[in-house]
Amino acid sequence: MSDHNSASPAAPPPGCPAHGSAVRLAGLQFQQSASDLYRSLRREHGAVAPVLLDNDIPAWLVLGYPEVCYVSAHDELFARDSRRWNQWPNIPDNWPLLPFVGYQPSVLFTEGAEHQRRAGVLTHALEGIDQFELARECQTVAEHLIASFAGSGTAELMNAYAHALPARAVLWMCGMPQDSDETDTLVEDLRTSLDAGQDDDPVAAYQRVGARLTQLVKTKRENPGADITSRMLLHPAGLSDEEAVQDLISVIAAAQQPTANWIGNTLRLLLTDERFAVNVSGGRVSVGDALNEVLWLDTPTQNFIGRWAARDTQLGGRHIREGDCLILGLAAANTDPQIWPESHVGAENSAHLSFSNGEHRCPYPAPLLADVMARTAVETLMEHLPDLVLTGQTTQLTWRPSVWMRGLTTLPVTFTPTTH
Ligand code: HEM
Repeated sequence: MSDHNSASPAAPPPGCPAHGSAVRLAGLQFQQSASDLYRSLRREHGAVAPVLLDNDIPAWLVLGYPEVCYVSAHDELFARDSRRWNQWPNIPDNWPLLPFVGYQPSVLFTEGAEHQRRAGVLTHALEGIDQFELARECQTVAEHLIASFAGSGTAELMNAYAHALPARAVLWMCGMPQDSDETDTLVEDLRTSLDAGQDDDPVAAYQRVGARLTQLVKTKRENPGADITSRMLLHPAGLSDEEAVQDLISVIAAAQQPTANWIGNTLRLLLTDERFAVNVSGGRVSVGDALNEVLWLDTPTQNFIGRWAARDTQLGGRHIREGDCLILGLAAANTDPQIWPESHVGAENSAHLSFSNGEHRCPYPAPLLADVMARTAVETLMEHLPDLVLTGQTTQLTWRPSVWMRGLTTLPVTFTPTTH
């Protein structure tokens, strides 16, 4: 997801008294820890904060753990179809968040029985992935990527490893042929369309990804295999080609970015926190502990847009009007003092909301597949480059200024060069 900074002065949006004191999301201090950032917002605004998106478009940021649970569990009241939004007359054609809130006929925006149909197909298709086979594939991809930089003794791990590995693993799960230049191009296009840099053209890249997936759906209709795409097409729900392509794009987009940042944020924790730095393989604290701690304290999908109120209602003492947009503050909910103290963080406790909750939550078994990808990525790297250290000071690492994804801009490391 791209990052946006608005420099315009505060201006209350028309017709909304609560938004007079709203927080401009683009102005948040992302270099703080997630718990500090969201605790201060909660202190000032309560469990449901009025916020301003790009172009000062008003929305509600739901910060409390019980409130996020309530919103995500009541999809009849807080619905997913963005066409319900009462702000559409104020949204310009080039609005930067359009790729994420503009209605598309995919599983993401469906409601009720149609959502059950589409999500049912996805769960069935994802359940067919053998987790041991996925771990083996991730290890092969990891070794291939490590070999590309192992001889140099330095690497920038976000680009060379954390983003590349889940992109390749997800394309493999979807049945894309591996080991080809075409896969490299698709991985690059995927990265550009999901996470554009300044010189890239995300729209053109997105169109190339769509075209390639349309071709994949055609191929798999004729020649099904043991992959997500074929299982989706063979499901009795009878998806059309267009529905299959839309939902494949949703799966790939939903899987790649959060898993990449889960890997990056976990490597950061392992390399910078002395509880882990001494000896990860020593058994006192494990990679599993680090992965879980990240989901509590630096979760990749820190805020998720969104839900749209189906009618006027109350939430956290706020009056929500029909058609208002609500953002799920997943990182804020995870660090809500109501469910804190820190003893909650630990390998055994997975009551965080990092995969959301309710009907539209990250569908079973996607969180398990993400865990296989992230765990294999981190363990294989540590195994092959055991003396990996951060280049420079911990304080030089910077978080991307994104409201949506919590991830590092870069993760530069050095290690003893090896030949693989
Ligand atoms: C660290 C990794 C991941 C995180 C943190 C994550 C988190 C999330 C979140 C927060 C949502 C939004 C839920 C909502 O609207 O309430 C979501 C939805 C979704 N995720 Fe994940 N996810 C991850 C990995 C994956 C993977 C690996 C897959 C697939 C292989 C996947 C597939 C999906 C799909 C298809 C949806 C849309 C569900 C729907 O609207 O019904 N995710 N995920």
